[in-house]
Amino acid sequence: MSLEKDIDTAAEIISRAKRLVAFTGSGVSAESGIATFRDPGGLWDRFNPDEVGTGGGLLSFVMQKPSVAREFLLEVADSFDKAAPNPGHLALADLEKMGILHTVITQNVDDLHWQAGNTRVIEVHGNLMRFRCLACYSKKKFKKEEVVSLGRNIAASLGKGELQGLLPILPKCTCGSPMRPDVVMFGEAVQDLHLAMDEASKCDVLLILGTSGVVYPAATVPLVARRANARVIDINPGESAFSSIIDVQIRGNSGKSLPRVLESIKSKLS
Ligand code: APR
Repeated sequence: MSLEKDIDTAAEIISRAKRLVAFTGSGVSAESGIATFRDPGGLWDRFNPDEVGTGGGLLSFVMQKPSVAREFLLEVADSFDKAAPNPGHLALADLEKMGILHTVITQNVDDLHWQAGNTRVIEVHGNLMRFRCLACYSKKKFKKEEVVSLGRNIAASLGKGELQGLLPILPKCTCGSPMRPDVVMFGEAVQDLHLAMDEASKCDVLLILGTSGVVYPAATVPLVARRANARVIDINPGESAFSSIIDVQIRGNSGKSLPRVLESIKSKLS
């Protein structure tokens, strides 16, 4: 089908949805300036996920390759500092305000769905603006500028090759112990998966935005929705692992295509 036709078909399906759920990956934030992971030039193209994506790997990475760790941290801090919700995020917030979108399930940790105005967001890989106590597990959300300057301070402290310099920089819990970013590293348990699966099993339309669909257990969300006979729409300029379960494939960037779907929905409902 042509892009126009795909957009119209997706709008037709969504305008009749009883319970729309969105499932998003890093591609939805690409137009906010945050690098995806597996695209050419993406984060995993330039940094080894076994080093920076696992808890133990990151610690030894900091000790063994402090200058590369500093480069990674500065890139993440700079892109998060500049990032703001793009028209794709804002269209999802509009769909919630219109009473069409029930929940966003996201693999992203960039807080942009909250900043765009969505109020029901399930973050299965955590949120980089939230920190968790290493001792009592209590959590605290920080302002973006606090997290960005913390990232830059940690980057500046690297290179002395010892971890002792890091601990005093980490925020402190009310119990006195250091706190770490509340994000899920490879090998760690994902968060709120039961809530995500419950939403996926109850939706009648699932809108997938910007994910390659290769990381489990998050990638089971569309499969659970499909098994519950939901219609599945995907917006992605490239391929994903979900091609066999997709009813409508919109080949495009979410920041451009989703606002066009939203316009078409509004005209159908007016
Ligand atoms: N709009 C929509 N989709 C896009 C855009 C865009 N502007 N730009 C890129 N994409 C698509 C790519 O084609 C790709 O299919 O987004 C997808 C990004 O895939 P990945 O880089 O694999 O990111 P993601 O699927 O979110 O990865 C899942 O892997 O490393 C872990 O924890 C990390 O949450 C992440 C998980």
